[in-house]
Amino acid sequence: MFVFNMKMKKERIIIAIDGHSSTGKSSFAKLIASKYGLIYVDTGALYRGVTLFASRNSFIGKDNTIDTVSLDEGLKSLSLQFKPSGPSGESELYLNGELIEREIRSLEVSSKVSFIAALPSVRNYVDSILAKYGVERGVVMDGRDIGTVVFPDAELKIFMTASARVRAMRRYREMTARGENPDFEEVLKNVEERDFLDENRETAPLRRADDAILLDNSDMTIQDQLDWIEKIIKERWN
Ligand code: DC
Repeated sequence: MFVFNMKMKKERIIIAIDGHSSTGKSSFAKLIASKYGLIYVDTGALYRGVTLFASRNSFIGKDNTIDTVSLDEGLKSLSLQFKPSGPSGESELYLNGELIEREIRSLEVSSKVSFIAALPSVRNYVDSILAKYGVERGVVMDGRDIGTVVFPDAELKIFMTASARVRAMRRYREMTARGENPDFEEVLKNVEERDFLDENRETAPLRRADDAILLDNSDMTIQDQLDWIEKIIKERWN
């Protein structure tokens, strides 16, 4: 149970949204950010960006073994930056100046990202990018370890989940809408594999923080979820 400091301005808070992949964390977090005037930060995009970088430079082998020495060396000069360049001013990720929003959502990156995200040096690299948001605050951040590791002092923590099949279907529809032709069973397998890797890695594994509120949205519309969060924010804030 968390308690809001009534004097704290909502604009200065951190909302941490963690949970399984394809639970709609990003869409939900974006809507919360726009409704409450907060900045949205997609931390998974940063792990995806590092994965794209590692993949392009052949630091990831066929069996997903990683040349960590070369990757760590590469991280020293890698620039990953969010810029508000989207059609409605939403932030998009750039790798050394190149827009990579589309590339980081490919099945190839999705199938490798958990291996990259398990590396302590990569987590340190991403955490160093995220740390600056802790100074300014006023953010909604979604990921796997935001409420447990990155910002354990976040004022509001939500842990999102849904059944693997529902999540795979969401991802499948997203890919189809982008003109890709995925195999549903492969997408489902990828969702389950990523759950396993995220939950069982040694560094910052995915787990629900003790003070995070559970949101299982298997049977909820986005409007249901917005009503749910609005009620929580009203109850605890106003
Ligand atoms: O949210 P996403 O599916 O875009 O995340 C991509 C991968 O990055 C996912 O396998 C877990 C990892 N990740 C992480 O380990 N920690 C975070 N804070 C965010 C993402």
